[in-house]
Amino acid sequence: MLFNLQNALGLGSLCASAFWLFGGNDQRLTHHPVLPPSYPLAVRNPYLSTWMPSDRIERLPYSNSQFWAGQELGWSVIVRVNGQAFSLMGVPDLETSGILPAKVHRAEFTATHSLFDLTAGPVSLTLDFFSPVSPSNYVRQSLPFSYLTVQVTKSYGDDIQIYSDIDGRWAGREHSAVQVFEQHDDLAIHFLSVEDAVPYTEGNDMALWGQVILASRPENVSSLSALAGERQTVRKYFAEGGDLSSEGSNWSSGGVVALAHDLGTVDSGASVNFAVGYERKEAINYLGEAYTGYYRAEYPTTHEAVSFFLDDYEDAFWESLDFDRELKTSGTAAASSKYADILALSTRQAYGGIDLTIPNESLDTEEVLAFIKELSSDGNVNTIDVIMPAFPIYWVLDPDWIRLLLEPVMKYLDAGRWHLPYTIHDLGSHYPNAIGHDDQKAEPMPIEECGNLLILALAYAQATGDTDWTDQYLDIFQQYADYLVDNSINIANQLSSNDAAGPLPNETNLAIKAAVGIKAFGEMSGIHYYSRVGDEHADLFFNQGLGTDKDQTHFVLEYPDFPDSWKTPYNIYPDLLLGLDTFPTEAHKMSNDFFSSSVRGEYGVPLDNRQDWAKSDWNMWLAGTFDQATRDEFVDDLWAFMTNGKHNWPFSDRYVATSARGREPGKPVLCRARPTVGGHFAILALNGPASITSLSTTHKPGRKLSKMYIVKEHSSEL
Ligand SMILES: *[C@@H]1O[C@H](CO)[C@@H](O)[C@H](O)[C@H]1NC(C)=O
Ligand SMILES: *[C@@H]1O[C@H](CO)[C@@H](O)[C@H](O)[C@H]1NC(C)=O
Ligand SMILES: *[C@@H]1O[C@H](CO)[C@@H](O)[C@H](O)[C@H]1NC(C)=O
Ligand SMILES: *[C@@H]1O[C@H](CO)[C@@H](O)[C@H](O)[C@H]1NC(C)=O
Repeated sequence: MLFNLQNALGLGSLCASAFWLFGGNDQRLTHHPVLPPSYPLAVRNPYLSTWMPSDRIERLPYSNSQFWAGQELGWSVIVRVNGQAFSLMGVPDLETSGILPAKVHRAEFTATHSLFDLTAGPVSLTLDFFSPVSPSNYVRQSLPFSYLTVQVTKSYGDDIQIYSDIDGRWAGREHSAVQVFEQHDDLAIHFLSVEDAVPYTEGNDMALWGQVILASRPENVSSLSALAGERQTVRKYFAEGGDLSSEGSNWSSGGVVALAHDLGTVDSGASVNFAVGYERKEAINYLGEAYTGYYRAEYPTTHEAVSFFLDDYEDAFWESLDFDRELKTSGTAAASSKYADILALSTRQAYGGIDLTIPNESLDTEEVLAFIKELSSDGNVNTIDVIMPAFPIYWVLDPDWIRLLLEPVMKYLDAGRWHLPYTIHDLGSHYPNAIGHDDQKAEPMPIEECGNLLILALAYAQATGDTDWTDQYLDIFQQYADYLVDNSINIANQLSSNDAAGPLPNETNLAIKAAVGIKAFGEMSGIHYYSRVGDEHADLFFNQGLGTDKDQTHFVLEYPDFPDSWKTPYNIYPDLLLGLDTFPTEAHKMSNDFFSSSVRGEYGVPLDNRQDWAKSDWNMWLAGTFDQATRDEFVDDLWAFMTNGKHNWPFSDRYVATSARGREPGKPVLCRARPTVGGHFAILALNGPASITSLSTTHKPGRKLSKMYIVKEHSSEL
């Protein structure tokens, strides 16, 4: 199969490029649509998350890729043209190898692809790293593999072989990595795993159980060979002979596993696919029971799953092109092309924090549950205030994911294992152990999480029409609504989601969340009392001014006596999204005026008056409540951070926004690769739920609903 990726993506030469430098006629590397901090290569779940820092693209033929947390991973791609080998990626010791560096011309990211154009002697090639995002297709979404397509785009009768290898670092513990090779018909699979692996254990965030895979099949025009062994030796065999089949594998720690396609004479174009992945049959420990990838209901063995993954390439590819295009168009229409760039870079990362699973024993697809890792802060499982900031992307792409992520928590609460009067912060201290907190010692965030849970539950019901699910847990939700009624005016000293900022009593933004949460429960239950109390709280904090300064220029950080303090009051966003009208339009207008320029640093508005750092997810939430001019300022500031070339981590949702406290602005702080970037979809979410239609191919168990929620008109107008 052969596609011209750039034409298919409709990108061609129209895209504005980041920079062109001219040295003689030497055309230098360009980035499209813009320079990101890091390119996602294979990003599908918390343990398959491989990136290429953008400052390594210039020297791509030499550059290692990285795990999201920063560990180096060996992954090379080498092409042999008329007997001369050229590295396209990942050969650090190129000088001594007899392999030449290819020239890198162009780098590009879309929502689902990272593409690099290179030339190797007379031949032009594109590396396409494709990680599908297909949340309505549970099999496709749950497969823990990613595609690397190496496409020859220009060749005039050249003799071509294409090679890729990965090393033992992918297994998480290189010195104890062991290797196995399997062939099933024409499918070749290398496996790497940690010897004597202990299920559910991590080393520096990498999985230490399960198995890394590198697989491929001959395309009808190629023949495939495989080899495992010492790094330089294996590459040398390929460089010299273009074929790996005549050698015997002898794996040892520090080695590589490799696959090579011989395409023979290529007259115009050709392409080959590799699959890279990380499979954990025992994916999640949910309350002592093993949960496994959803796809295993249909493809129980690894080779069946890999084989299907390769079979599915064409469908997945065409879906991804439609999706990438539609997301770009919708993001541009919702705000700007800069906003579309932010969405494109956020998409794989948002789903890359999640596993979609079913029970390992029954493989019953009716029991599907999703698990999300709080990457880079503490590794908690299904943190409510991670699902909360991320939820706009689920709302836009497939709102069922709100239920899929909450259901593991609701089952635990429903089992009566959590005894505190407010809801739990997360379902386990460290991924993938979703074992609850029977010791009642989860991080306490009483108002934060009660408000989040009620708002998320209503968002799900509104977006899907499914009220059976909220009805099923109505008593539990009511308990938390009552907790908010009793505890959200005189608020005890406590943390909010931004725990790095420390605890506060009477934090206005929590009071706002509580008012909206109470009203959400009123809406969900039809019990008018709660709607009235939610409105009364909003009246107290806004109309009566308890949560504002005297002149009503802004919401204060803390009440009653801190008129000069302020915090981004992002908790008001779901009030608008869900059309609850807890707060009046004037409350949005007030924030809009206050945040237009007045407290804006070099890279936007910090979280509150005490901090120099901003949270990108919350800022996009708040931006969704603004008029166009202020909203554009917020979008432009986040885009400026994303593209400033000063950092090379996966998209960070926390960064220094202002130099006011002496730190260099535009640099990330602590947070890498977090799925909370799903919150960047907040502005697009105002178009209504499931507004992206190119992902409509539904392959998931249907829910038989007894009645439907009547979706209200959305009031995204201010
Ligand atoms: C490759 O397979 C396709 C579809 O099966 C076929 O149309 C084409 O002729 C084949 N090409 C070669 C070179 O065998
Ligand atoms: C395997 O080991 C032998 C003996 O050490 C060595 O000569 C050969 O190059 C090795 N092959 C590979 C593929 O590493
Ligand atoms: C998960 O299922 C596989 C068979 O599909 C089985 O070999 C394995 O023991 C199961 N693991 C657990 C923990 O039940
Ligand atoms: C919090 O606000 C309430 C209501 O205004 C007030 O009664 C209480 O004293 C405040 N608590 C603190 C610690 O300031």
